[in-house]
Amino acid sequence: MNAKIKKIYKKKNRTKIVCLTAYSKSVAKILDKFCDIILVGDSMANVLYGQKNTHKISLINIVQHTCSVREGVKKSLLVADMPKGSYLTAKNALKNARLILKRTKCDAVKLESYKNNFEIINILVKNKIPVMGHIGFTPQYKKKFRLEGQTEKEIDLLLNEAKSIEKAGAFSLVLECLTPRAAKRITKQISIPSIGIGSSSYCDGQILVTDDMLGLSGFYPKFVKKYANIDRIIEKAVKKYSSDVKNAKFPSKEFFLNGPKFR
Ligand code: KIV
Repeated sequence: MNAKIKKIYKKKNRTKIVCLTAYSKSVAKILDKFCDIILVGDSMANVLYGQKNTHKISLINIVQHTCSVREGVKKSLLVADMPKGSYLTAKNALKNARLILKRTKCDAVKLESYKNNFEIINILVKNKIPVMGHIGFTPQYKKKFRLEGQTEKEIDLLLNEAKSIEKAGAFSLVLECLTPRAAKRITKQISIPSIGIGSSSYCDGQILVTDDMLGLSGFYPKFVKKYANIDRIIEKAVKKYSSDVKNAKFPSKEFFLNGPKFR
């Protein structure tokens, strides 16, 4: 097991695991100081590309953004999402996961649970590709948002799914939009860390889409705490720039380039 993954694994029942998403070097560099895991999520579809769902994100999108993020990440575990359609068969999954790892030098891939694709996780793990699982609301496959784990029967099914993913060799598991009761039971009964998003504080760690928690995406469901209003900061700066340009206040002489010094 890779040392960084071992470190994450050991945090279960000890310290909470801090995770966020990133799609570029500049943001990743800041997150790296505070995060255990940085995920290049296919949520880039909504956040960066203005798409309604994550379905059109391609392998190339993931590779390009993960390469950028890799430049900013030194200490955190870097995980890249496998896009929809890239892991439908074991052969495809292996080929594509290898390509992502080779081209981006990330540490692991994440894939969403779909039609008992545990065998695919197992094949990747056997081929030394660390895998993060993802259950509950899995946007690549579920069209309509629904809180999962509302009945005991549903919790049992989710628990079986989680245990099968653990058995297949995943090193951690994202629980997206599960009831607190379901998140608590699953977290207790699996030995790999659970990473929650909209799934209460019973999980071993938490992840949010960075643009949501920074107030930049315009998407603020109940489970997202807005830690900043970056949109307002950008708006204020751009408004001032616009006014300075219109009034010929920028560039003033101090920004002229007429000597040997450029910086
Ligand atoms: O794509 C993503 O950002 C994710 C997280 C929300 C877990 O899958």
